Amino acid sequence: MSIDFRSARAEDAPAIFRSDGRAFGFIWTEEQQQERIASLPFERFQLALDGAEVVAVAGAMPFDMTMPGGATVPACGVTWVGVQATHRRRGLLTELMGRVHADALSRGEPVSILHASEAVIYGRFGYGVTTLERAVRIDRARTRWRAERPAAGAVRYADGPDARRRQEALWDRGRRQRPGELSREPALWELIHAVRSRPASSASASFHLEHHDGYAVYRVSEKWEDGHPLSTLEVTELVALTPAAHAALWHTVLSVDLVGSVKFRALPLDDPLPTYLDNPRGVLTTGLTDGLWLLPLDVATAFAARTYGTEDRFVVEVAGRRWAIEGGPGGASVRAVRSRPDLVMDTATAGSLLLGAVRAGGLAAGGRLRATSPDVLRRADRFFLADVEPCSLTHF
Ligand SMILES: CC(C)(COP(=O)(O)OP(=O)(O)OC[C@H]1O[C@@H](n2cnc3c(N)ncnc32)[C@H](O)[C@@H]1OP(=O)(O)O)[C@@H](O)C(=O)NCCC(=O)NCCS
Repeated sequence: MSIDFRSARAEDAPAIFRSDGRAFGFIWTEEQQQERIASLPFERFQLALDGAEVVAVAGAMPFDMTMPGGATVPACGVTWVGVQATHRRRGLLTELMGRVHADALSRGEPVSILHASEAVIYGRFGYGVTTLERAVRIDRARTRWRAERPAAGAVRYADGPDARRRQEALWDRGRRQRPGELSREPALWELIHAVRSRPASSASASFHLEHHDGYAVYRVSEKWEDGHPLSTLEVTELVALTPAAHAALWHTVLSVDLVGSVKFRALPLDDPLPTYLDNPRGVLTTGLTDGLWLLPLDVATAFAARTYGTEDRFVVEVAGRRWAIEGGPGGASVRAVRSRPDLVMDTATAGSLLLGAVRAGGLAAGGRLRATSPDVLRRADRFFLADVEPCSLTHF
């Protein structure tokens, strides 16, 4: 078997959809292909060809990712990864990932990020879990709003192109407040709006709530049991720039009638929602899983772009190279050094530490990080933790 590798071109689109569909057990309709094409930067897709046939794909999309402290860095968002069953376990993904990473570095992207279909795939390529996703369910019958009631009229329903533009503008401000959150290019927004405007399996098309400083998007799956209403309301996205907007939007979401339970797939661990309710078990965590995975392609640039919990200095060895990270709540500098390291880790572990969601102490206990002393580890714990819990609602 001789396999050729090359970057994709726009005319490869049908073959990319076919190959992706075969890898994921999905057949893209003509209509779905047309809807997605504009959002896919095919020049960033890498292909493996067996003769004339595309048999494996790894794509990438550009994002700006928010770091702890609010700065952003360009990020390579790896996506559309699939190798057909006829060609798996022969090193095709390994070759394609190498090409995607080289391309990202040439574009000046210090980090590469992705969502993994299976958690065993990407550690070998230097990716570590960098955000967590907490899915929650709120049982309406068991919870009552106990916080001060938001002002009447603060939230209204909003539809149409103007409401979309306001959502996009609010998103762009809101994503800068949350480490791990991503920018969205206009073509990606077009796709998001199109998907939200349609029903999804048993759920309605999306409803849009708007506040001066935020918005919420949700769908409803209608259900009745013995004559009683038991619909499920699924929040797709809730963005709030201020505490008042956050409370007002959640209050409205929890006030929708005929609803038995409200679900949200990614409530940040530091979200104040539980404090608004009278029942501490009212916001039930139904799942806590890996969200974004991250590979630091350029360790110095990535770690210099964030702020840190305490003023401190560490020599960190990542995959054999040593860096002095000197930082604090105001910013940081990173430079290559030769001195003895305080912390030793591989690239995937550095990816887990970068956004500050994963504790150094836990990584050390699991044998993924080595510290010169328990005191160094305690300091590292306080240093790397982010003041705002990282989370990402943008799936790609
Ligand atoms: C996951 C997938 C892309 C792997 O492609 P591949 O070309 O078979 O991968 P490679 O041959 O380069 O594998 C490299 C190594 O990773 C391991 N590996 C790859 N996928 C794995 C998986 N799903 N589970 C466990 N190990 C895996 C291989 O065994 C190999 O290990 P080795 O180097 O010790 O031999 C392919 O199986 C696939 O398309 N799966 C379905 C779609 C999917 O899940 N895509 C990922 C979306 S995030």
